[in-house]
Amino acid sequence: MSKRVPLVIGNWKTNKKVAEVYDFLQEIQGKLPDPKKVEVGIAAQDIYLHEMVKRSKELKIPVGVFAENVHWADEGSYTGETSPAALADIDVSGSIVGHYERRKMFKETNGSVGLKVTATLRNGLVPIVAIAEDATHYNPDDEDMAPLTEIAVGLAGVDKTKAEKIVIAYEPAWAIGASEAPSAEIIEHAAKVIRKSLAILFTQEVADKIRIQYGGSATPENSKEILELEDIDGLLIGRASLEPAAFLSMVNDA
Ligand code: G3P
Repeated sequence: MSKRVPLVIGNWKTNKKVAEVYDFLQEIQGKLPDPKKVEVGIAAQDIYLHEMVKRSKELKIPVGVFAENVHWADEGSYTGETSPAALADIDVSGSIVGHYERRKMFKETNGSVGLKVTATLRNGLVPIVAIAEDATHYNPDDEDMAPLTEIAVGLAGVDKTKAEKIVIAYEPAWAIGASEAPSAEIIEHAAKVIRKSLAILFTQEVADKIRIQYGGSATPENSKEILELEDIDGLLIGRASLEPAAFLSMVNDA
């Protein structure tokens, strides 16, 4: 069981029409836990974020609204991008950064992830930094694994005093959109390697405050076991977050 306040976020990706977004918010109204015990968020397409923030305030739903991607510049000539300053202006809580789908389909690199992480922190937003190293990187028998490149390079420019606000989402590439999640042992081992990498970069004290989520085929069937792991502090949920009942069940497991 984690020592940190769990953070459970639904990543809707490129799903839902506007009426479905509003229905979902109404469905979860009055059903979320005390945010001091479990924090809850939804990451949605940019076009919905402003209205989601307004409605969740009106309906008093303790849910953070997150972007799924963010640009690294606060303003300027970057056609088609959404700036972190604009997200902060409409009270969005943060943004996913470097999701595997963005790294793979849109050629994001650890370098661009790093710029985006510092940009979100500069604007007071929470970066949910997605880490999806190759399956072969994890060897449960190797206690002294090298720090992960995605952390070492991607977070190298982050100011230590702001680092504890970062959230890491461990999403193994092979488990995203798949039929099952890895075993609890693999997830816990990966989380320990991630925390060790964070400690090398930021100090153990800071690493112990950073939340690590698990993502990739998380479902109401496996969420309890995953959330009981010592180094896992929440979930980043794809498909299972699209249905309010499944999402609420997983939130309640945290
Ligand atoms: O960000 C969450 C995601 O990549 C995992 O998706 O559908 O396997 O839960 P899914």
